Amino acid sequence: MDILRIHGGSTLHGEVEVSGSKNAALPQFAAALLSSEETTLENVPDLSDIRFMGEILEHLGAKVERCGKNTWKIQPLDIQPDAPYELVRKMRASICLLGPLVARLKRAKIPMPGGCVIGHRPIDLHLRALNEMGASVTLNQGVVEVDGASMHASTLFLGGRHGSTVTGTANAIMASVFTPGITMLDGAACEPEIVDLCTMLGKMGAKISGSGSHLLKIEGVEKLTGCKHRVIPDRIEAATYLIAGVITGGKIRVNGVNQGHLGAFIKLMNESGVKLIEADGAIEASISGEGLKPFEVITLPYPGFPTDLQAQTCALACTIPGLSILTERVYPSRFMHVPELLRMGAEVSLEGSNAIVRGGKKLNGAPVMASDLRASAALILAGLAAEGETWVHRIYHLDRGYELLDLKLRGLGAEIERLQESALPPAFRSPID
Ligand code: EPZ
Repeated sequence: MDILRIHGGSTLHGEVEVSGSKNAALPQFAAALLSSEETTLENVPDLSDIRFMGEILEHLGAKVERCGKNTWKIQPLDIQPDAPYELVRKMRASICLLGPLVARLKRAKIPMPGGCVIGHRPIDLHLRALNEMGASVTLNQGVVEVDGASMHASTLFLGGRHGSTVTGTANAIMASVFTPGITMLDGAACEPEIVDLCTMLGKMGAKISGSGSHLLKIEGVEKLTGCKHRVIPDRIEAATYLIAGVITGGKIRVNGVNQGHLGAFIKLMNESGVKLIEADGAIEASISGEGLKPFEVITLPYPGFPTDLQAQTCALACTIPGLSILTERVYPSRFMHVPELLRMGAEVSLEGSNAIVRGGKKLNGAPVMASDLRASAALILAGLAAEGETWVHRIYHLDRGYELLDLKLRGLGAEIERLQESALPPAFRSPID
């Protein structure tokens, strides 16, 4: 198992290219199953989650070919409805297979995703949508079995107690592309990743209108073709690098980003004393003359402030003198990064779904444990700002969602290296799982 060793204190400078979006690419891999023709996806990030999804599609019978680092060709000539627990349990996003399999094969058998450290993540909204579309949904020994033979056009509401659902919306769209008549999805998610999925499906011949709004209209079609599609840039990765520049007092330009996808983040950074310069496809961040100010932020579904940036922003708040408050409305208990930040000397208290940060105290390097993808990014950001060395364990979480993060940070001047845990003195190894 690898770990990252960071020597804090370097001021980051320079330019970095953003990769394609993991959360856009994953449902698009599933969407390719909707046609028996070949689909080519470009700008796909080189991540373990993507490789998992490729393996699952192969298991379902699709021909999956990787052409170079970031291009995949998927040809699902003859597929079967049964996804293997061994692969599905490794990645929640595999639930996105449900919609395409039901639409194309009128049936699907997908193991129910298990627990997740970021909080309670049921799929009741996914199953309710299929039910309301006329499919019969049963849970048999942990496997969701769907019979879509009697699906019909319908109008349904997709929202839940925490607002809209991203992959739930993706599943409902994909499940209804062949359903004769008009299906209306109200309370749909309008994340850029959903808009990108609708763009791809449109290229395949699907009739979808209203993408980017909470009301989607899908007119059923006979069949879909293959397509060629370029995945959108990863807005979460882009913002993570901008925070890396700010938290080290440097100046960073992120290229290949779509500013329009980062409205809430840009607003918060501007309010917190970050000087952001937006140019065509690039954002440059540095600290404004008046310095950084504490802030209050609430995570919400898009276009609200993304929950996938909460941990990284919490790390930033730890370095800003004053009281900042981060309220997590999407995953109310998504604060696994906090105990590790406390190990680095941060002052954060948790009150329900609020993190109250008394920032400004110098962070100290320490051995810390990553618990999930975004928490691991937050610990790396804190390590860059800290005095001394930070050792981040279990970075397999990081490799699920950040392409070559350590390499890219080194390119910006960070003292960071990836080490084999086994090469470390016992005192620095993570406790046995
Ligand atoms: C997507 O997950 C992203 N994953 C997550 O990113 C992201 O945190 C999340 O959207 C919210 O933005 C992918 O796109 C692969 P949701 P998803 O359904 O679709 C509740 C990352 O770090 N809910 O929008 O699974 C749910 O518990 C990952 O890259 C139900 O109650 O999230 C949560 O509180 C982590 N019932 C809220 O809705 C349901 O059936 C939003 O979840 C579905 C969701």
